[in-house]
Amino acid sequence: MKSIKASGIGNPIDRIEGHLKVAGKAKYASEFPVENMVYAQGVNSTIAKGKITSIDTSEAEKQNGVLAVITYKNAEKLKNYPKDMTNFSLTTVAPVFQDRQVHYYGQYIACVVAETFEQAQYACRLIKVTYEEETPDIHLDKNRGKAYKPGESADFSRGDMDAGMREADVTLEQTYTTPIEHQQPMELHAAIVNWNDGKVKMYANQQILNQATTSISETFGIPKEDVQIITPYIGGGFGSKLNVYKHITMATMASKMIGRPVQITVTRHQMFTNTGMRQFDEQEMRLGAKKDGSLTALAHHTTSHTAKNLQYFEACGNVSKMLYKTPNNAVTHRLIPLNIQCPSSMRAPGEATGSFALESAMDELAWKLKMDPIDFRIKNDTQVDMGADKPFSSRLLIECLRIGADKFGWENRKMQPGTNKKGNWLIGYGVSAASRRAPYMKTSAKVVLELNEAAVNANIKMDATDIGTGTYTIVAQTVSEYLGIPVENVKVEIGDSEFPVTPGSGGSWGAASYCNGARKACENAIAKLKKKQNITESEEIEVAELLQQNNLTTFEAEGTAEPSEEYKKHSVFSFGANFTEVWVDKDTGMYRIKRMVNVGSAGKILNPKTAYGQIIGGLTMGAGMVIAERTQVEPNYGNFITRTLADYHVPVNLDMANIDVVFLPEDDKIANEMGVKGIGELGITSVAASIANAIFNATGKRMRDLPITPEKLI
Ligand code: MOS
Repeated sequence: MKSIKASGIGNPIDRIEGHLKVAGKAKYASEFPVENMVYAQGVNSTIAKGKITSIDTSEAEKQNGVLAVITYKNAEKLKNYPKDMTNFSLTTVAPVFQDRQVHYYGQYIACVVAETFEQAQYACRLIKVTYEEETPDIHLDKNRGKAYKPGESADFSRGDMDAGMREADVTLEQTYTTPIEHQQPMELHAAIVNWNDGKVKMYANQQILNQATTSISETFGIPKEDVQIITPYIGGGFGSKLNVYKHITMATMASKMIGRPVQITVTRHQMFTNTGMRQFDEQEMRLGAKKDGSLTALAHHTTSHTAKNLQYFEACGNVSKMLYKTPNNAVTHRLIPLNIQCPSSMRAPGEATGSFALESAMDELAWKLKMDPIDFRIKNDTQVDMGADKPFSSRLLIECLRIGADKFGWENRKMQPGTNKKGNWLIGYGVSAASRRAPYMKTSAKVVLELNEAAVNANIKMDATDIGTGTYTIVAQTVSEYLGIPVENVKVEIGDSEFPVTPGSGGSWGAASYCNGARKACENAIAKLKKKQNITESEEIEVAELLQQNNLTTFEAEGTAEPSEEYKKHSVFSFGANFTEVWVDKDTGMYRIKRMVNVGSAGKILNPKTAYGQIIGGLTMGAGMVIAERTQVEPNYGNFITRTLADYHVPVNLDMANIDVVFLPEDDKIANEMGVKGIGELGITSVAASIANAIFNATGKRMRDLPITPEKLI
């Protein structure tokens, strides 16, 4: 098919919806003008464990504009979590107000519905609650006896770990910790919900529409077809908008109860306790290697926490199953139920934290072996995913390390910490490898072609979402490429659960899935038009001419793309290497990330500009893990002390450095027909170790607990 070079795949065009966003014309969930709308606001518990003994809503109900107060007393019966610990999945029900139990601080205990947002907020403060309070389980250390294994898949072993450690000339046993972190996307969680005649239509910022509609339909016991979610734009998700949270349930309940559309906005405070977070992880690493650097053993044991009534864990150890060649390998995950809200997926769940431990440990072992950390990684490279016993579809990790080293000027690194100095600054170079699964899933799309004189316009529809990543743009580029029309002639319609089904945005599968689905719809359109005219498939012909020959001014086709048999026989991952230079003030411990080089092996790059945005965004979020991010839990009451962006610090531009982002050319047809591999989570994966390793190289201080705040370096 003829491709239009100015706008097809691979060109760094601007976001096609960019001007709508900067002009304030892109409508987000809470911005739709809905008539007769009222406002709901949630009230949060002020204890972490216990029972509500009384709840007095009379004062609140008397206020001007207040239409209803919902508590466990008058809430409708919903489908509840099963008695055994349910896995917090993308379709898990989201019950609220079903009993008097409080499982964590900040749990919703009531909801006020009023004519205005301010009236609702004011009335929330007038609700009087008494509790029968119990001592909450907050400390990991005090509750270690309750640790359990979350299902068989949490453990893995190959060979004999102890024998591998005995064979080693050099060993390392260290523990690394990462704190609770919160996503906090710019756009608050919000929804406008209208319950009408047993059907529900909502504007809600959900990352994955086809799973969210299942969750809502199950919660309320209505058919999935009767739930519609619309979300053309989402102001960031980072995993926090993957699952259906209880504000959706509250607003739906409220709309059903009072018969009017209900808007709900989760406040910034509430986003700390009610819309997910990354859990605390304690990772014990055991590694052994021969003098020549070959690994003989690698173990990765993670202990973290989950909620009392819901189970989630990020599989930190998975990275240790696949990244390096080692004959002996053991991975475990253990969970301790605490009176803290259930954690959930935060950008690169498992890999972001797991790689910090693994890639720090690899740096430590390289240092013990007196080996260059790049040589050490290359020595243990593998083209086979030993954890899954499958070859990788493509893996250019060695090339990422070598090319990155070259661009970065790695040869100027001083092996001995504390020897590269400039005045008061200690200068360090660090490296780490990145890996992140690049899944591809069944995706459908529908394309409508319209002939306008000699030009063809195409309208593509799918239930995809754009969480700020550039979905609109890369889908338009794909349609442009496969129809051979300018990108300006493509209209992309996404963010409606009634459009053809996609896997949504999450887990770095969006781009590969969406674009292949769009491709398939375009290919089907062309093939059908050719067939009608008995034109052979290989013949090159403009789509406009095809329509003309068929005497058609409009034509539509659907397409579904899905993984091949070859895909299933391989492990499909994106890889990368990150290089960081830090300068540490030797007296104050203040440090600066001076520059980074990041090299990726991530398949075909659809749009270098949006791809660059994904990587620098990921690197910045990863740098946040190191320099500042930490949600602190009050040890007696179980509330989060850091619950605004004034005390939960995230990095800003000035915290970051010059970042050179490079993608290596890669043509991976096993990953999918277009050779697209995900990059949404690749950037954050392992940048933390790169910075920590640079800090060691600068100071000789090994930092195993994030964040690395300056006082730790004095
Ligand atoms: Mo991602 S944590 O799957 O949005």
